[in-house]
Amino acid sequence: MAGFSHVRDLLENPPGEEEVQVRGWVYRTRSSGKIVFAVLRDSTGIVQVTIKKGNLPDPEFEQAVGATIESSVEVRGTVHKDDRAPGGYELRAKSFILIGPAPPFPITEYQSEELLLDNRHLWIRSREQTAVMKVKASLLMGARNWLDENGFFEVTPPIFTQNACEGGVTLFKLKYFDREAYLSQSAQMYLEAIMFSLERVYALTPSFRAEKSRTTRHLTEFWHLELEEAWVDNIGNMKIQEELVSAMVQEVVRDRKEEIALLGRDIEQLKAIVPPFKRVTYSHMIERLQGKGIDIAWGCDLGAAEERAVTQEETIPTFVTNFPIECKAFYMKQDPDDPRTVKCADLLAPEGYGEIIGGSERETDIDIIMARLAEQQVPVDAYQWYLDLRRYGSVPHSGFGLGVERVLRWVCKLEHIRDAVPFPRTVARAYP
Ligand code: 4AD
Ligand code: MG
Repeated sequence: MAGFSHVRDLLENPPGEEEVQVRGWVYRTRSSGKIVFAVLRDSTGIVQVTIKKGNLPDPEFEQAVGATIESSVEVRGTVHKDDRAPGGYELRAKSFILIGPAPPFPITEYQSEELLLDNRHLWIRSREQTAVMKVKASLLMGARNWLDENGFFEVTPPIFTQNACEGGVTLFKLKYFDREAYLSQSAQMYLEAIMFSLERVYALTPSFRAEKSRTTRHLTEFWHLELEEAWVDNIGNMKIQEELVSAMVQEVVRDRKEEIALLGRDIEQLKAIVPPFKRVTYSHMIERLQGKGIDIAWGCDLGAAEERAVTQEETIPTFVTNFPIECKAFYMKQDPDDPRTVKCADLLAPEGYGEIIGGSERETDIDIIMARLAEQQVPVDAYQWYLDLRRYGSVPHSGFGLGVERVLRWVCKLEHIRDAVPFPRTVARAYP
């Protein structure tokens, strides 16, 4: 008998008569006198363990009788076919050892959302949360593989910053010794700087936004995957985005069929997420919204409701390009063909999920940037280093930021973005 097996190995390659050992946590249990049925959970799945008095030493049988939900245990036994058991096999115990006992578990079947959030550190052991975390890991692996194959360097920008990248309204301010600093909203400006060394760069960092709005798609701390690409225009930027998103989703299709099924998402819908995605201009989107009877004028930003309305019926993501210049950040490149607009694209997920990426070609004209900072009454001093990037060998370039939890929420069909992160940070909560 070689060490411990994982549950998945037992179910996929039943070992026959040979004894095996597994270890994990008690998922549920019931007993009737001389027999205990415990379902054991590990990181790979669940298996039914049948513990029968007489098949193992009496003190171990008593431990099994007393084992509560989420106790950790080690079991030795043999695997037998049983169509009634989850996975089609059961493990008949010859030994059952309690490793870590557990008091009554505070989470039972029907619980208020508040209680689940208060006990988040325990609730993340649930099968749904476990599935979501595995899908997230696969999305990130798919991204990293694609980025590596396509010549991007992973880099490490700072989180403390003295610049607002995305406007002052959502900045978290903090005391940085005797100065003021902020938590990063986006690594973009630093990626633009590093791009001059490495040409194609990306970073995966937490970003922070003091979002006061309680919505199903805003966190105050989220994971941000950002790319910056030298010599790439807005059209090339969109191509990179659709290939990257597709590579991420197809990694999930390959690795996470079970989890996707458990979360109630049809895998065929994910298989369809391949390039090309749709492309629509902002102006066209406004006409479409007006056609649906929605009261919106050219010049207004698209909110969650508008994004939902235009993506509800879609099955693949849509790029919305050329937003009005006054809706977007100071660094986006003005479109010479339509100077009321910028060369940007928001990528909207289908089925009503809305924005998952914000990106653009970057303005290279230092005077335009300074004028736009002045318009927004931003003191230019703190931006001198950024303006240097336009002074010293500036090149056309583009980039974007992908909200990892936004993508995960869509892929896993989650009602609320807080379930896309193990310890959600929202206006209402920073505990546990
Ligand atoms: O559209 P945003 O604000 O763009 C930027 O920050 C750019 N500087 C990125 C870049 O070009 N490097 O944010 C990018 C993405 C959004 O599309 C969304 O997916 C996600 O970040 N995001 C949030 N996700 C969760 N909670 C929030 N409060 C978010 N704010 C933005
Ligand atoms: Mg945006």
